[in-house]
Order: sequence, then structure tokens, then C-alpha cells
Amino acid sequence: MIANSLKLPSGAVLPNRIVKSAMSEALGDDFNNPSDGLINIFHRWGKGGAGLLITGNTPIDRWHLEHAGNVVLDHHTDINRMKKLTSAAKSGGAYILAQLAHAGRQTPDTINAHPISMSNIRLDLPGYGEPRAATDTDLETVITQFTESAWLAKEAGFDGVEIHAAHGYLLSSSLSPRINTRDDHWGGSLENRARLLLSVIRSVRARVGQQFIVAVKLNSSDFQKGGFSHEDSIEVTKMLQGEGIDFLEISGGNFETPVSYQHTSRQESTIAREAYFLEYARDIKKSLNIPIMVTGGFRSRAVMDNALSSGATDLIGMGRPFIIDPEFPEKLLKGLIDMAPAMERDFPPAGKLPRGAVLNWFCHQLSLHGTVGDSNLALPIVDGHERYLVDMQNLTKRVLKARGK
Ligand SMILES: Cc1cc2nc3c(=O)[nH]c(=O)nc-3n(C[C@H](O)[C@H](O)[C@H](O)COP(=O)(O)O)c2cc1C
Repeated sequence: MIANSLKLPSGAVLPNRIVKSAMSEALGDDFNNPSDGLINIFHRWGKGGAGLLITGNTPIDRWHLEHAGNVVLDHHTDINRMKKLTSAAKSGGAYILAQLAHAGRQTPDTINAHPISMSNIRLDLPGYGEPRAATDTDLETVITQFTESAWLAKEAGFDGVEIHAAHGYLLSSSLSPRINTRDDHWGGSLENRARLLLSVIRSVRARVGQQFIVAVKLNSSDFQKGGFSHEDSIEVTKMLQGEGIDFLEISGGNFETPVSYQHTSRQESTIAREAYFLEYARDIKKSLNIPIMVTGGFRSRAVMDNALSSGATDLIGMGRPFIIDPEFPEKLLKGLIDMAPAMERDFPPAGKLPRGAVLNWFCHQLSLHGTVGDSNLALPIVDGHERYLVDMQNLTKRVLKARGK
């Protein structure tokens, strides 16, 4: 099953069902253009056998980054560097999407102490400033920025874009009644909370045409009391279906509830199912006819094949295995291995490590692919975590200096 091709509504025929999900690379240069290292790792992934690659978080606004190492897609972007990235990614026959995002209140305060958000409710974590509730004009600007970034992605040779409406960034926070406390037409009812996302998709589709892939990453739930719920999410998937998207990627959680990259689940049912959001996908598939991609937890081919043949998902999204072994898809497709690398399963529980240590270790390993050409898997978790934090501080200083700040 994983080796079967899939035709998307826009006409693209993906050569197989394995997708590299978005992973923020921290390999943008001082001007947030792709570095040589980023181009090199996409070249490896491009030749590594996956049918589709999705870039890491690519902000549409330089002052609303997820971190200083992001690659930005706006009118200051060096499109020739982007073209190098897309041709490297496509060198082995894979398709490539840019994941477009606006970080909203999850913008670090070192980049912007007062980012726009749907309200002034700040993130309950250190390192984030007090957001300003976006005005109508701000939100109209955001729609235009997504649209222009999608157009630039097309010019740069991407096969499509994925609109990031998961994990607590601006579009995701707009869906959440906990964060979106507005009483205007952008807030209140679910229809109003979904307005920003739907307006972005409509505007993007009108600009890029029907033959360009437009996908959406959506939370199955925020897993927060009073947040975007499972029931809300099901309703939004139906709204998205009406907008002619190519596929819907399912994830969950946000910075405050980071459930999308667990590593030490000991629940028997989760271990057997592997993929965290598969049951939810099974639920929504009953009323949807657009392709679904489930990301998070998939590792063994038998489980992937089963998820595909049972109709629970159409695409298998994976992240961390691509950091451990960029060429694993080819090995899996050829039957040389039965499982994608699952190193994180042997890591200590998150509670025994500093907050964010495992994620930061993976982020550091990913950036090593770009800076020194390969990962260093023997590096202890806490060392990788600390090096990532130091690298990020230095990167932030360099990016701000390049902007004259
Ligand atoms: C280092 C790292 C960076 C990530 N960055 C992003 C990102 O930029 N955008 C996104 O939607 N998800 C991001 N994710 C989540 C992954 O796309 C994926 O959902 C998650 O890793 C679960 O899949 P896995 O179990 O196969 O790793 C990131 C995950 C990791 C480990």
C-alpha cells in the first residue's frame, strides 16, 4: 500500500504514500533565505524515496517568525535561492510543498514583543511577549500575505503550499474559543472563528489556480479545556472540504500542549496503533471525500499499510525518522527494512528531562544535517538541547543585526 501512487484533486500524482511532514529546520540564513545546508538536506530527502516533502514552518511575515532560523516567503525573499531549494527537493521525483504560517502569539519575544494575535491573551510560557489583538486591517493584511506567499511559492517552483492551521499559530488560535475571544465577525461562533482560515484558502486558491496543490494542516483538537475541540474540528473539516483543498493533514496540540511529537507512550492501544490521530481520522473519513494525511507516530510498515488499506488515511506523514535517516523511505519501499527509525522510543520520559529537551535535540540534529552534513546521533539529549538553545540565541542576534536592530 505505501508504494501506491495517489492522484490529488489538483491533478498531481504522488509516486507513493510516504510524506515528510513539516519540520522547522533553523537553516535560514541571516536574511531568512535558504542556506546551502538547507538546500543540501532537501537534496538528500528528495532522493530518499518519499513521494512528497513539506518544508518546515515558512512564515509569511518577517516579524511573526516561529524562530529566527525560519525561511520566509515574502517580497524580500531571494527567489533564486528558493528555486535552488525546490529543484534539489524535486531531483528524485518527489513533490514539494511550502508550509506557510503566521506564528501569531507563538512568535518569540526576541523577534517581536507584541505580535498580533486574535486577542491579547499571552502564551503561558516564558519567552513570549504580550500580543496585540489584531484589527480588521491586520487580518485583511494576513490574508493578502498568505496569498502573496503562495504565489511566490509557485514562482519558486513549489508544487503547492500547505496552510498551517495547527499547533497554536495564528490560524489555529483563531479557531480556538480560548484564544479567540472576539465579539466581531472573526470570533464567537465556529463559523466566525473559521472565517480567517477559510478566507485565506479562498484567496490563495483564487491566486494560484486549480493545478497547484493547496493543503491544510489542522488540529484534531487543541487538547485544552475550552480550546478547539474534537467536535469543532470535525465541523471545520467539512467546511474545508467545500473549499476544494487537495488534502487535509491531521495533527493536534500547540506549544502549551505539545502532543504532536510524543515519544514514550506506554499505553498498549497507542503502541499498537502507533499513529496518535488515526482514530480521529477514521471518524472524519466517514463524512469526507478529500484525501487525508495522518502524521505523528507511524513507524512500522505493517501499521502504515493497515491504516491505508482500512481507509483511515490516504497519506502517511512522518517527521523524526527523516532526521535520523534521510534515506529510510527508499529502504522501506524496497523492503530492506520493516520500520522507520524510532530512536525516540528509547528516550527517557519527558518529565525526567528539561522542558522541550527531546524536541530541541531533534531540532539540533536537523540543523547539523545543514551545518556539518549529517546528524550526530550519539550526542546526549541534554547536550543537543542546550546546543540548540545557544545556536538559536546566536541566530537571533545575527538575524536582528542583519535587519539593523
Ligand atoms: C524538529 C521538529 C520540528 C517540527 N517542526 C514542525 C513545523 O515546522 N511545522 C509543523 O507543522 N510541524 C512540525 N513538527 C511536527 C512534525 O511535522 C510531526 O507532526 C511530528 O514530528 C510527529 O511526527 P513523527 O512522530 O513522525 O515525528 C516538528 C517536529 C519536529 C520533531
